[in-house]
Order: sequence, then structure tokens, then C-alpha cells
Amino acid sequence: MDKKFSVVIAGGGSTYTPEVICTLLSELDRFPIRSIKLYDIDEERQNKIASACKILCHEIDPSIEFIATTDPKIAYTDVDFCLAHIRVGGLKMREKDEKIALKHGCVGQETCGPGGIAFAMRSIQGVLDNLDYMEKYSPNAWMLNYSNPAAIVAQAVSKLRPDSRIINICDQPIGLESAMAASIGVADRKEMTVRYFGLNHFGWWTDIRGKDDNDITDKAREYVLQNGFIAPDKMGKDTDDSWYKTYYKAKDVMAVDPTTIPNTYLKYYLYPDYEVAHSNPDYTRANEVMDGREKMVFSICETITKNGTTKGFDLVTGNHATFIIDLAYALSHGTYERMILIVKNEGAISNFADDAMVEIPCLVSKDRYERLSIGEIPTFQKGLMEQQNACEKLVSEAWIEGSYHKLWQAFTMNRCVPSAKVAKDLLDEYIEANKGYWPQLK
Ligand code: G6P
Ligand code: MN
Repeated sequence: MDKKFSVVIAGGGSTYTPEVICTLLSELDRFPIRSIKLYDIDEERQNKIASACKILCHEIDPSIEFIATTDPKIAYTDVDFCLAHIRVGGLKMREKDEKIALKHGCVGQETCGPGGIAFAMRSIQGVLDNLDYMEKYSPNAWMLNYSNPAAIVAQAVSKLRPDSRIINICDQPIGLESAMAASIGVADRKEMTVRYFGLNHFGWWTDIRGKDDNDITDKAREYVLQNGFIAPDKMGKDTDDSWYKTYYKAKDVMAVDPTTIPNTYLKYYLYPDYEVAHSNPDYTRANEVMDGREKMVFSICETITKNGTTKGFDLVTGNHATFIIDLAYALSHGTYERMILIVKNEGAISNFADDAMVEIPCLVSKDRYERLSIGEIPTFQKGLMEQQNACEKLVSEAWIEGSYHKLWQAFTMNRCVPSAKVAKDLLDEYIEANKGYWPQLK
């Protein structure tokens, strides 16, 4: 009989947890499961999600053990995989990250610009804590980490826990590949083989192949240059307004270098003035998420719990969760699946720092992955990436050393911050707002 896996979801109270569980339960043929555990430090929040997920889990397969806990020992004992999507400080702190930046005339975004730096200073300890629990209670497990801001978290973890079994991932490239596939008439993103390089939330596609190695790069390029990542069937529906605008804005980002296809997140670095002008400093993406997805997920969970059944609800599976399960499957079954991961460069991009955490295609096999060689990258991307990597490295060093000065340099270095003066004002206000979350800075 196939091995059955035990999985812990760190950040059990996340609005993404039900989707991850639905996807896990829809893939049991391929990836059999014996135990699903939810772990969170916020018991009340997690219970709201867990009570509904438990009902769902029992309906699909009553033999699967389902546990929700705030005890790390229970959570991390006897697990094969940890799927980590924690958010230290919750959406309330995301709101502060975004609004403080905008108050100072800078891009207010959860992972990019000043908000991303502030978030990183909270996140690093949380991810390290979870990694340490995993290593203590299940040393052979893998952590598949998509806790944000993934770029800086990956940077700090690679420095502090260089030998840990952690792989950092992001669903944005595959989400955008799905949109590209739909736009150019490819049935499934998995039919495409891509070349991509960058840092997390900071990368570019250079080559897209369809079935039979057919080169469809130009077709994809032409589409994105005209329409961004808005697939024909998505014109005007389905997504929140802010994401719709982001997908569309990719065409302007791409205009700067039409030879490559950019990740949507580059808009914050290439058009920060436009972003600020089109943001509402009193109502940011955090508010949209709290009023939208968060309310909706909690209300569905509440109804399921009250009814004692999931009947009447469509179970949603997602690209994002499928990608995580594909990765767990590849690591456990040795499939050599080609996947975009955030890994130490170590020469894959030949003209870029060896110790940088880059996002590139890798081949994933049993308990390991191999980087695909990217070779030399062009001056435009290299320059941008070097500045961004230096910024992220300074944040990581500032966290490790408790250095006020390095963090000031990091804010100053960021393309979303116009001057050292604004950088200092931002830093001082974030320190106040993050009391109890950030390490003490000297
Ligand atoms: C994408 C990114 C994630 C990010 C999420 C935010 O999926 O890859 O890193 O967390 O968007 O979405 P939200 O709907 O919370 O703004
Ligand atoms: Mn991401």
C-alpha cells in the first residue's frame, strides 16, 4: 500500500486554509493522507476555520485524523510535511504596513516597498520558530513555506538555518502562467515549459514552450503587451478590482522591456508614483481583504459548523494549493517535476551573487531539487535585482544584528522610497507601530 502522509498547516487560521484542505482532500488518490493538523497561535481564529474543516474532512474520509491545536508539540510530532502560511500580526498589521507607507507618499503594499520590509521584520521570527519545532519533533519533515514576504524570509532563513529542510515558494508565477495559458489558447498551464528568473515578486519570463516544444513565447509576449494578464474570459469579472488593475498594469511594466514578460509585482518598483496616485490611503488592500475574503470565508465556515455539514457549498480547490501538493508529491515520489522555487542562486544566474535567494525553475525529485542553469541575465534586470537583493539582504542583516542603521539603509535602498529622509521617517513610525513584534534595534 502507498505511504499515507501526515501534514501540518502552520497558520491554520488563515483564510487560505480551507482551500488548501479542499485541494488535499481532492487529491487523495495521488497523495494519500492519514493526518491533517492545523497549528496557529491564535486559537479563537483557528477554531472558526477548523470546526468547518473537520466536518469536511470527516465527510470525505473519516479515517483521516483531524487535529487543530496551539501546542507545537502536538502539531509537529509525526508529520511529513509542514505547509506554512503564517502572517505574524495578522491583517490588522498588514493594514498598518500599507497605510504608514502611503502616509509618507510611498507604495503601500504587503510584500513590496516599505510595507514588505516592515512585514519581514515581524515574519522572520515566526518562520524560524515553526522551523525549529519541525526540526525538534519531526526532523525528516519538509517545510513548504509560502509565508510572506517570501523573498526576505528566504534570505534570513538561508543565513540562519542553512541546512534546514525548507523550500520557499510563491504561487504568483503559476497564477500568471494560468492567465497566459488561457490568453493564448493553451488548455492547461502544465502544458507549458517556461524559463523564468528573478527574486520573489521580482522576476521575468524569457521563454515559453507549448506541447512538442513549440515556441509560443512571441504569442504570449504579444498578448501581455496588449492586455496584461487579463485572459479573454476574465475581462471585467471574477477578480477584486485591485487585482484586475494589477493584471492590466503589467502591459505598462512590460513596455519598459518588451523582450521579457514581467511578474505583476514589478509595477510597484517601476511605477511607484502611479501606484501612490491611484491608492486610497484610508482604504488599502488589507481593508479589501478583511471586508471581502476574510468575511466570506468566516461566514461560510460558520454556516458549515452550524449545519454540521458542507452540503450546499461548492468545495473550492485552487491553483495555489495544487502547486503545493505537486511539490510535496514530487519530493516524496521523485518525479523530477519542473517547478519554480525560491532557492540559493549558487551560480544558476551566472552574473549574480551566489548567496542570493533567486526564483528560478528547478527539477524536484525525491528529497531534493536541482536548479536549472539560467546563464547571464541582461543589464536592466541585473541592475534592478542587485538593488532589490541588497535591500533584502540589509533587512535580513538588520534583523539578525538588531541594527537600526542597516534597516535605515534598507529603506533608503528600496526603489519605492524617494530619499534617506523619508526612509528614516518611515523607519521611526514602523518601529512604534511594531512594538512587541520587531526585535529591539540599536
Ligand atoms: C499572491 C502572492 C502572494 C500574496 C497574495 C496576496 O498570491 O503570490 O504572495 O500573499 O497574492 O493576495 P491578497 O488577496 O491577500 O492581496
Ligand atoms: Mn507570493
